[in-house]
Amino acid sequence: MAASDVTPDARSHAPSDATAPSDAPREAPAGATAFSTLIRTASRQQHEEAETSAFMGDLLGGRLGVAAYRRYTEQLWFVYEALESAAEDLRADPVAGPFVQPGLFRLAALRRDLDHLHDGADWRARVRPLPATEAYAARIAELADGWPGGYVAHHYTRYLGDLSGGQIIRGTAERTWGFARKGDGVRFYVFEDIGNPAAFKRAYRELLDALPLDDLEKQRVVEECKRAFALNTAVFRELGEEFPLSA
Ligand code: HEM
Repeated sequence: MAASDVTPDARSHAPSDATAPSDAPREAPAGATAFSTLIRTASRQQHEEAETSAFMGDLLGGRLGVAAYRRYTEQLWFVYEALESAAEDLRADPVAGPFVQPGLFRLAALRRDLDHLHDGADWRARVRPLPATEAYAARIAELADGWPGGYVAHHYTRYLGDLSGGQIIRGTAERTWGFARKGDGVRFYVFEDIGNPAAFKRAYRELLDALPLDDLEKQRVVEECKRAFALNTAVFRELGEEFPLSA
């Protein structure tokens, strides 16, 4: 989620139909559905479920306190720790390797955000993953170790999401809890090394389209992507139980 300046209006462009996004790859092989299109459209319903969860709604509606945002950010820490601790080992992998790009890494930004959200206190030993977060991170670790295609499904679900809709969360966080624009507290949503998010997303989709996978394997990756969305929704559900405004 990062298109540096996605406006709230951009919500209406969420991947809710089969049409190509404005930053879609310019060419798809004639007669075939590009994999980037397939994975996007196949996970449309799961995206909607994640996006419309009570917790996200309350967060984006500015109805929750900063403690809820902090707890959410802590969960992201565990997810990105799983994604990024595996990245180095996957760098040479023919399937996952091309996706390992340091410009995407979020852990350093999350560390700064959490330092800020915990007022500089040592949070590392204190923060705990929710059960759903633990399951999510465990799934990523399992795939990083045994199925690079599955790892790509999770990579796509997180990073392309962060590069797409994250600005909406960032804007709300800045307004609601008074973080400095693109500063401590919301650095997770700021991709300093990606100057042109639309071009980056286009190149990312080209990588998806170039994956050396047969149709059956692509279908498995799509299924794993749906599972990745469901794992996110489960985290939102548990966060919603802890911060039950909409209940
Ligand atoms: C309230 C929360 C959310 C909002 C407002 C939101 C919004 C958006 C928007 C505006 C796009 C751009 C669509 C386009 O390029 O045309 C997008 C794409 C995307 N979002 Fe979200 N999103 C949210 C939550 C999530 C979550 C929780 C995930 C998964 C963890 C996610 C994953 C994705 C992915 C993977 C894409 C890229 C689709 C593609 O172009 O292939 N989003 N989102």
